[in-house]
Amino acid sequence: MRKKIIAGNWKMNMLPNEAIQFIEELAPLVKNTENEVILCVPYIDLFYALLTAQNTNIKIGAQNMHFAENGAYTGEVSGKMLKSINVEYVIIGHSERRQYFNETDETVNKKVKAAFENGLKPIVCVGETLEQRESGKVEEIITNQTKLALDGLTNEQVENTIIAYEPIWAIGTGKTATKEDANDAVKAIRKKIAEIYGQNVADGVIIQYGGSVKSSNAKELFSMSDIDGALVGGASLKADEFSKIVGFEQ
Ligand code: 13P
Repeated sequence: MRKKIIAGNWKMNMLPNEAIQFIEELAPLVKNTENEVILCVPYIDLFYALLTAQNTNIKIGAQNMHFAENGAYTGEVSGKMLKSINVEYVIIGHSERRQYFNETDETVNKKVKAAFENGLKPIVCVGETLEQRESGKVEEIITNQTKLALDGLTNEQVENTIIAYEPIWAIGTGKTATKEDANDAVKAIRKKIAEIYGQNVADGVIIQYGGSVKSSNAKELFSMSDIDGALVGGASLKADEFSKIVGFEQ
């Protein structure tokens, strides 16, 4: 059986002192969970978050990385740099990066490969716009994004990739996909992975849902057959609320 992985994506929020305080507050609240807990924090918070999360069951991730190891890319941070301070996870291809920072399926794929080369576990985001949903293209869009993101990976790497299905219209809007729609989308992603990498690989891949997840809807989403946890934005900024999502409490 697949485990549940609940990841917070703080986006561009939380100063280092706030990150420290948050993790100190969260750690005792989630210490007995069987689920995996990840916080993806701004670069500036990483070092503080890693130190504070030592000896807890909270794992730390970044929200982006460059695909090159080093070089003349002003303002960028590489996978090698993340790994050097023991970051474990990295979000790749979040819709906000696709929308505002010219992230493409091609750069997503390069970053996923670079993440594995550097021993990082990628959390790859896919999801459709409202217009694409209304024109009946959900499955086509998200399975294609998945296929392109994973292109050229080994079966083992695919098994170690976390995929986050995040419908763009549900992000930060308070509109959550229904549990049935979210599960159907996640199933379609799993089916595409099965077609390319085999059923065994597909059965092992963690696929999260993201988009206005909160403690009041987490339980019903997590009760669905194919949803293996969540990537949580706004509701991951309050330790108490986030701990309730981790524990599926309402
Ligand atoms: P919200 O939970 O704020 O809708 O954000 C979802 C998200 O984008 C997580 O990556």
